[in-house]
Amino acid sequence: MSNHSRSRLEAFYDGSTGTVSYVVWEHASRHAALIDPVLDFDFRAGRTDTASADRMLACVAEHGLIVDWILETHAHADHLSSARYLQQHVGGRIAIGERIRDVQATFKKIYNLERNFLPDGSQFDHLFSDGERFMIGGLEATALWVPGHTPADMAYLLDGIVFVGDTLFMPDVGSARADFPGGDARTLYRSMHRLLALPPETTMYVCHDYPPLDRAPAWRTSVAEQRAQNRHVRDGIDEDSFVAMRTARDATLEVPTLILPAIQVNVRAGQLPPADDNGVAYLRIPINALPGHR
Ligand SMILES: [Fe+2]
Repeated sequence: MSNHSRSRLEAFYDGSTGTVSYVVWEHASRHAALIDPVLDFDFRAGRTDTASADRMLACVAEHGLIVDWILETHAHADHLSSARYLQQHVGGRIAIGERIRDVQATFKKIYNLERNFLPDGSQFDHLFSDGERFMIGGLEATALWVPGHTPADMAYLLDGIVFVGDTLFMPDVGSARADFPGGDARTLYRSMHRLLALPPETTMYVCHDYPPLDRAPAWRTSVAEQRAQNRHVRDGIDEDSFVAMRTARDATLEVPTLILPAIQVNVRAGQLPPADDNGVAYLRIPINALPGHR
């Protein structure tokens, strides 16, 4: 557990997808937000599991937390969200950035989703605009629009902490890919610099870590540390150099294992698609339809 002046935080690392989820709460009131929760998914078996989500529920129970929010930084391509499952157990409003509508429109076409799936964000309880302020108990938080990795990415700032999603990774890893539909390396650079302009002592928590072999997974850093050490955007690396590096690197990356199952669940706020008439939900695999990937 990490202590800041008014908040407490627990991180949950899922080794199979490299995802870090968070429970953060106001110490005084015990009002909480759950951030980027994982629904475990065995693609080969087509089977979901709630072990990761249940660890977050245990934290909520242990500390007697009141869940105000379930926050997504973006529609993840590497894991399914357990937002809906968590909401069924502990409540809270599921929220994401308002540009999720763009992502929904893009992927509604790619998956040819059912007619009554509307790309209007209505699957979520709340859509944040850039700079919007919201409360976790008595703690004020701010939602920051940081597009680039996807068009809808948000960061959440509270109590001297910023949850950056995939906008920055640990300093020795650098940055996330910007080649998903609607992603853009130049936009990502500008969003990263928006976060790097926060006070240097601001603590940063990342949504993923893919550590090099010589260190354990980590997720906590700071603006000062990123500005000094981030291998892709430390001070002195200009926008054109970053864009050239990122574009070249993205061209070498494989498609994430879970992108096709994950996005169709995550644009529904963690809800599985409607079940067929036999009561079973099915995921769709579009053939030769994911743009930009061979
Ligand atoms: Fe991501």
